[in-house]
Amino acid sequence: MFAGPIKPLLLALMTVLCARHSQAGNLAPSKLRCEHLETALAVESPHPILAWGLVANTSGQFQTAYQIRVASSRDKAAHDRFDLWDSGKVSDSRITQVAYTGKPVKPAQSVFWQVRVWDSANVPSEWSPLAHWKSAPNLSADGDAQWISASVPRPLHQDRQTLHLPPALQFRKTFEIANTIRRATLYLSALGDAAPSLNGKPASEQYFLPGWSDYRHRAYYRALDVTPHLQPGPNTLGITLADGWYSGYVGYGLLLGYGPHKGGRYLYGKDPAVLAQLVVEFENGNRKTVATDSTWRWNDEGPVREADLLMGEHFDARNARAWDTPSFDDSTWKKAVPAGTVPSVTAPFHDTTGQRTVDLGFKKPDTLQSYPSPPVRVVETLQPKHITEPSKGVYLFDFGTNFAGNVQLKVRGDRGQKIVLRYGEMLHPDGSLMTENLRKARATDTYICSGAPEGETWTPRFTYHGFQFVEVSGLRSKPSLDLLSGLVLQSDTPITAAFECSDPVINQLFRNIQRTQRSNFIDIPTDCPQRDERLGWLGDAQIYIRSATYHAEVFAFFTKWLSDLREAQRSTGAYPDYAPYPMAHGESGKPFSSGWMDAGVICPHTLWKVYGSTDVIDRQWPSMKRFMEFRESLSPDFKGVSVGNPWGDWLNQQDATPIEWIDAAYFAHSAQLMAEMAEATGRTDDAAHYRGVFEKVRTEFIRAVIGRDGTVSGASQTACVLALDFGLHPKGGASVIADQLVKLIEKNDFRMSTGFLGTRSLLPVLSKNGRHDIALRLFQSRQFPSWCYPVVNGATSVWERWDSFTKQAGFGRHNASMNSLSHYAFGAVSEWMFRDLAGINLAEPGFKKIRLVPAPPPKQPTSEVTATESPSAPPLNFVKASYDSPVGTIVSEWKREMDTLTFRFVVPPNVDADLLLPASDSNHVTVVKGGAALLKPNEGTPHYRLVPGEHVLRVDEKPTDPKQ
Ligand code: BGC
Repeated sequence: MFAGPIKPLLLALMTVLCARHSQAGNLAPSKLRCEHLETALAVESPHPILAWGLVANTSGQFQTAYQIRVASSRDKAAHDRFDLWDSGKVSDSRITQVAYTGKPVKPAQSVFWQVRVWDSANVPSEWSPLAHWKSAPNLSADGDAQWISASVPRPLHQDRQTLHLPPALQFRKTFEIANTIRRATLYLSALGDAAPSLNGKPASEQYFLPGWSDYRHRAYYRALDVTPHLQPGPNTLGITLADGWYSGYVGYGLLLGYGPHKGGRYLYGKDPAVLAQLVVEFENGNRKTVATDSTWRWNDEGPVREADLLMGEHFDARNARAWDTPSFDDSTWKKAVPAGTVPSVTAPFHDTTGQRTVDLGFKKPDTLQSYPSPPVRVVETLQPKHITEPSKGVYLFDFGTNFAGNVQLKVRGDRGQKIVLRYGEMLHPDGSLMTENLRKARATDTYICSGAPEGETWTPRFTYHGFQFVEVSGLRSKPSLDLLSGLVLQSDTPITAAFECSDPVINQLFRNIQRTQRSNFIDIPTDCPQRDERLGWLGDAQIYIRSATYHAEVFAFFTKWLSDLREAQRSTGAYPDYAPYPMAHGESGKPFSSGWMDAGVICPHTLWKVYGSTDVIDRQWPSMKRFMEFRESLSPDFKGVSVGNPWGDWLNQQDATPIEWIDAAYFAHSAQLMAEMAEATGRTDDAAHYRGVFEKVRTEFIRAVIGRDGTVSGASQTACVLALDFGLHPKGGASVIADQLVKLIEKNDFRMSTGFLGTRSLLPVLSKNGRHDIALRLFQSRQFPSWCYPVVNGATSVWERWDSFTKQAGFGRHNASMNSLSHYAFGAVSEWMFRDLAGINLAEPGFKKIRLVPAPPPKQPTSEVTATESPSAPPLNFVKASYDSPVGTIVSEWKREMDTLTFRFVVPPNVDADLLLPASDSNHVTVVKGGAALLKPNEGTPHYRLVPGEHVLRVDEKPTDPKQ
């Protein structure tokens, strides 16, 4: 083909390329992570978990070995002196869950590591670039950081009728830097919400530091790299301290009269406190520590006049000073005091446990814990779409989508001009802001202009709102769109999912679910971001967690919440309704509920399955065991019980399921998951025990619930769903219950009637039991109640109720006080979209092996449009899904054109995939690309093995001519 001088040239080039390839191998490590984070600056574990991704330049590549090396400094690494660890070549295909087992790492030590991998042909890659982690400091022993507070304690606000919104405190300290800095790390904890600044500039882009915990026992601290913020000579570290979850308004405390004096605030204590330690490492090897103590000065006359998570912020720019710069004169500021010296005060605390006296004074948290989750920060900026003027001088900015976060205000105003921002999720029919569903959350920010002639810019720092609309008043003239931009806040869990199909309403539904997850993964998984609730409800978390894992990398985020959950566990062993748990709600003395408390078992189980981490099991195990002991003590005869809060199948459509059945179903399910986790971690006796418990509860469930004909007696849709989902039926009895479920759906005019618990598994059990057609019909249904119903009624997020708002009835169907427009629970259908419709599933924990089972609608013999699709929806003739799994990106796509179904898959390097194709037999399948290997020919559903790389397969659906 090639002739003349080109040929030798080409050959030479190919030789060079091949040489480079063979030298570097066909696999390269990428995206190194430590403890599931890209930046881990306070790693507590002596054996942190390391992981990396793989990039392949040919298909079919597997990692046959790896080598990790670790140095105690960048210099040493640069000189090939890996003094902490050299794993040597380890013949192992693992790329996640690799524990560091090198020399012990000293506290607050920087560690530099890299990895290389061997490909299928046993050729090593180049070494990866260096990655970095830092071990946790020994904060109590190392340095003299003290908890400090303002020296003038605040009065205890006792009047429930008026809001109490004290100004934020400012703490400052000036210090000298005389040497060349190598690195500076600020360790910061607070009983409150702290924002650090250095030399007049914010020292971190993170919000709500240090994070929510039960502060009386445990507080998080953050490790912040502040190297770029320091300068030679004098420096000033400032900390603005607001009430946060510690002493500000939390949840529905004010609404329901919980907390000290029934006021809904001071749930953990009265006076915020802060603890900080700045460690500066110099090039000459010396260190300098600047720590909070009583040499710090404080003031409460700064610009932040109000700062409350629920109520909003008030910022008076006239008070802004360069207070956190060295030249500022703080001689009139007061001296900070050790927090323990602030006189304590007691108050009657009210909640459904009953009234008791609590001490609201400082209590040093028993534990300081490094924040294990990605921080909350701005992850996206949105521009408003349009402005209306519903009444004279009042402007409404519409961001076009419901989200959680803040705005940035850019204004040129007169000195003292007051601009008020109110937030809402929707408008009333007259175009005014709808705020009734916020209940007691005032959600109002106020900005007082300094009058700077060049204009001024501000964003609230100590609050967030759930909203689509912002009402602005106090402007002197009609604003333009650039007055505001929307700042989307979220615990920065990297997004891992993409989904598109031929039904635009479903595409919007997917975006809504994605958006609603963002809005509610803010430090903890909250139920909603807008009203006075924002609590980490367990039921919502357990039904949604599997969907969440498709949407984003949530391991570290949920690890944080599981700590909060363990801490919230009651002395009886029960997991309460939400975590953190600062106030008891519901049934007095029994603050738990079936299906909600089981999150304590379901969530670790899901994290283990998806991310392959058995550590998460080990960490939760003692707590889960206590919980199961509690569950077993509730039901010594293995029967379901009705005790605790009766949320049941919450928000079902007049189709309630007896609580005892729900309880038994979840008791059995928890026992089964415990058995699986016990097995995975070598707890053989426990495995046998929980398998026994499962069998006993299952037997009792069948006795109580399943009739002679194998159906669920007096069934609700949810009862059938739970029986199928958790295997609570006689052997071989699933099809009877599946038929029964389909009949119930048909009788209900093809509508679901399930609540939180049933909805999550409704489509999965239908698809699993041969009724994928019905699952698809419900999925695409536009009629009430359905996933698409809110979308066709204008939703840009997932609503608490299917009919939270309707075009015909507005908000009329529900009391707006219990009507969140950003509630992820019903978004739990993503799990089915990815796992059952696109067919991306795990075959082994951590996706080490994957299972591809794509499931297009069954082909109808006579028409292109399948008869089972929802009548008003377009045919579902293609789906494209991609998922950045823990082991790499998995793609599954299918497309139906006339009589042909085409499938495309991408399998990440190092992963084995099983593919089950929906075709009657392999004779109708053509392998177009990628060399899928057929396993078990002539045995029904074609079953292939796919190696890493791209694969295309075509299924011929042409009906065979009966006459032939
Ligand atoms: C929350 C729910 C939660 C429920 C308990 C509500 O107020 O918003 O999502 O699970 O209470 O039934």
